[in-house]
Amino acid sequence: MSERAINVSLGAIMVIAIVLSFAAARDFSRPNFEVMPDMVHGPTYQAFEPNPNTPDGKTLRLPAPGSIARGLMPFHYERTEQDALRAGKELTNPVPMDDDAAQLRGSVAYAVYCQPCHGASGLGDGMVARRGYPPPPSLVIEHAVNMKDGQLFHIITLGQGNMPGHAAQVSREDRWKVINYVRSMQAAASRQPAGAESK
Ligand code: HEC
Repeated sequence: MSERAINVSLGAIMVIAIVLSFAAARDFSRPNFEVMPDMVHGPTYQAFEPNPNTPDGKTLRLPAPGSIARGLMPFHYERTEQDALRAGKELTNPVPMDDDAAQLRGSVAYAVYCQPCHGASGLGDGMVARRGYPPPPSLVIEHAVNMKDGQLFHIITLGQGNMPGHAAQVSREDRWKVINYVRSMQAAASRQPAGAESK
């Protein structure tokens, strides 16, 4: 091929490329041509679309009975006194009392989640109680002192009477740490001279 012929063909290719690029100028306000549209728009049923294949006609399915959500341990107790006593017999506190970091964490969780009602020393004189919420019983008197850790865990988890459950706010781990902190408040109160606590 002569040099001239090469130049002519290169020139022709350039012209064709320019003409093609103008011809292909498209309207950018519209979606481009999709080569494999199923990759973008799955042919599956969308979560909230009706679905003729399921018994209730919905696409979103309920978890099978007995399913356990990832990271959520089941708690097989009802919000009853009997179940609180049963929890007291069956559950043991996995956090040792002499774990200082756990005590600290328990005291922080107590200050945030319990103190508003139960008061800084557990006497039942928190700000919420002082502003009219039914005051809780003292946590440092015999009744609570004699409760087993598992029973306290049950009360914190599911609530009791006017006290709402705290499963959503306080993690399982932190609930045990709060219990250890309550135990140390009880120990501190028992060291005080009789009568000092009611001041
Ligand atoms: C909204 C106020 C409120 C908050 C917050 C609260 N409690 Fe209570 N708590 C109560 C009330 C009211 C009672 C009494 C319930 C009843 O009627 O038996 C109670 C009862 C208890 C009891 C049983 C005491 C007994 O002698 O029967 C324990 C233990 C307890 N709470 C621990 C906690 C802990 C630990 C926290 C923090 C994780 C907490 N509570 C947060 C209001 C509260």
